[in-house]
Amino acid sequence: MRENISETWLVMITVILATAIFAKVIQVLLRKEYRSKSRLPPGRRGLPLIGDSINWYNAVASSHPPQFVEKMVQSLFGKWAVVSADPIFNRFVMQNENKLFKSSYPKSFRDLVGKDGVITVQGEQQRKLHGIASNMMRLEKLKFHFMNDIQKVMLQTLSNFNNNQVILLQDVCRKVAINLMVNQLLGVSSESQINEMVQLFSDFVDGCLSIPINIQGFAYHTAMKAREKIIGKINKTIEVYRKNGAPMVDNGVLGRLLEEESLPDDAIADFIINLLFAGNETTTKTMLFAVYFLTQCPRAMKQLLDEQDSLKNDSGEEGLTWQDYKAMPFTQCVIDETLRLGGIAIWLMREAKQDIQYQAVHLDENVYNAALSFNPWRWMEPENEEKRNWRTSPFYAPFGGGARFCPGAELARLQIALFLHYFVTTYRWTQIKEDNMSFFPSARLVNGFEIRLTRREEHETN
Ligand code: HEM
Ligand SMILES: *[C@@H]1O[C@H](CO)[C@@H](O)[C@H](O)[C@H]1NC(C)=O
Ligand SMILES: *[C@@H]1O[C@H](CO)[C@@H](O)[C@H](O)[C@H]1NC(C)=O
Ligand SMILES: *[C@@H]1O[C@H](CO)[C@@H](O)[C@H](O)[C@H]1NC(C)=O
Ligand SMILES: *[C@@H]1O[C@H](CO)[C@@H](O)[C@H](O)[C@H]1NC(C)=O
Repeated sequence: MRENISETWLVMITVILATAIFAKVIQVLLRKEYRSKSRLPPGRRGLPLIGDSINWYNAVASSHPPQFVEKMVQSLFGKWAVVSADPIFNRFVMQNENKLFKSSYPKSFRDLVGKDGVITVQGEQQRKLHGIASNMMRLEKLKFHFMNDIQKVMLQTLSNFNNNQVILLQDVCRKVAINLMVNQLLGVSSESQINEMVQLFSDFVDGCLSIPINIQGFAYHTAMKAREKIIGKINKTIEVYRKNGAPMVDNGVLGRLLEEESLPDDAIADFIINLLFAGNETTTKTMLFAVYFLTQCPRAMKQLLDEQDSLKNDSGEEGLTWQDYKAMPFTQCVIDETLRLGGIAIWLMREAKQDIQYQAVHLDENVYNAALSFNPWRWMEPENEEKRNWRTSPFYAPFGGGARFCPGAELARLQIALFLHYFVTTYRWTQIKEDNMSFFPSARLVNGFEIRLTRREEHETN
């Protein structure tokens, strides 16, 4: 009974809050008050309008996530999508091309992610940084610079679970993604160094989501401190590089940045921090949702596993080769379908008007047959071939488009494919707790996807 009362209470607050947020969004949009930066509450890149309300929601809901609150919020956010598909809203959006939300990041957020980061800068500077980021992570570089390191991280983070161990896959994917980011951006590969950086980065991210009070004991303060330490590390790497020249070992994006580009030293740290920020959560959620969808679709699971098992391994080489990566057509379909259905980047979209439409298009019955069901085979149909071109297709744009097109897209796809390889070829799993997707406060599974792992060799001898 008490629980009922508190849940009802929670629903009421949440509905009021969500309605208020919704009304506020509309108000801000329609009155063009987005120009007035100071009116926007602080929040990370994804959530500038919602900001701290989300933290509050998290705090209230985390210990006992009531399902119907999720539902209500989801349906309220359904309206957000309806609104964004509204012709008047869209016209408004079009008319404000490149003006809408411009510079909408609160100062506190910019202080944290850095004033010289690609996410917050505009115009000429954005083009320059975006060009560098795209160059650092373009397809031709992946083979040489990322392929082996990604696999090392997969083995470090995925190979050590015991038979019958119960895990929250959401947490495991978080760990995989952040370890990948730290390893590939900074070039550190020892487990202890990665862990240290990961801790600093978590403090940092917590602060990005918190109230900007720069006083000891507040998350924002801890985050500013973490930011300083991260920059300190980056500075040290730069110093060593300037003294000794190119390092013998591959030194991540940071090392190559020093080698190939000419960014001023004080812009390098912001650049790296921005990449980390942009790549972490999106990659986490895509890996997680891929396994979630596969678990619900045994036929796709079987086909993916067959494909991964069949990758020829006669080179005698450890791990997968670039040729192996190029020979995963069905896995690529699974990744595309996960990105289509998962709505992973929904929060990144709010800045780039046309992307809001893309996102709606992903689930449009007029564009996709049975749009709401997971059907990786749809991507093999000839009529979808053109639609599938995620760099240019107006019907499928999980990585955005135009000037802000995700520079990490190819890298992300490689990471996800390799994650799937190591996960499905090492383990079998059974889902322990029912789970659902939620897009509030960000894309996730409400119960974290609790599964019991069996090592595959054990599984098959039993
Ligand atoms: C599945 C994973 C990913 C998805 C779905 C994704 C999606 C997106 C989208 C939709 C945008 C455009 C946002 C906008 O228009 O404002 C974007 C931007 C960006 N992404 Fe990704 N991303 C992913 C992974 C990554 C990774 C791994 C990195 C880098 C390590 C990365 C780096 C960036 C950066 C730096 C931007 C900002 C570009 C700019 O503002 O000029 N992303 N991403
Ligand atoms: C890092 O180096 C930049 C540029 O040389 C400098 O402005 C900054 O104060 C340094 N920061 C730290 C924490 O060492
Ligand atoms: C990475 O994303 C996860 C959510 O998937 C979040 O909990 C974590 O704090 C993020 N870490 C960093 C360093 O961005
Ligand atoms: C390929 O074969 C080698 C040696 O037989 C093995 O050590 C390695 O793990 C295999 N790689 C994959 C991806 O299965
Ligand atoms: C998931 O959603 C279904 C159908 O919408 C619902 O019946 C179920 O209770 C939900 N489960 C959880 C764990 O949220």
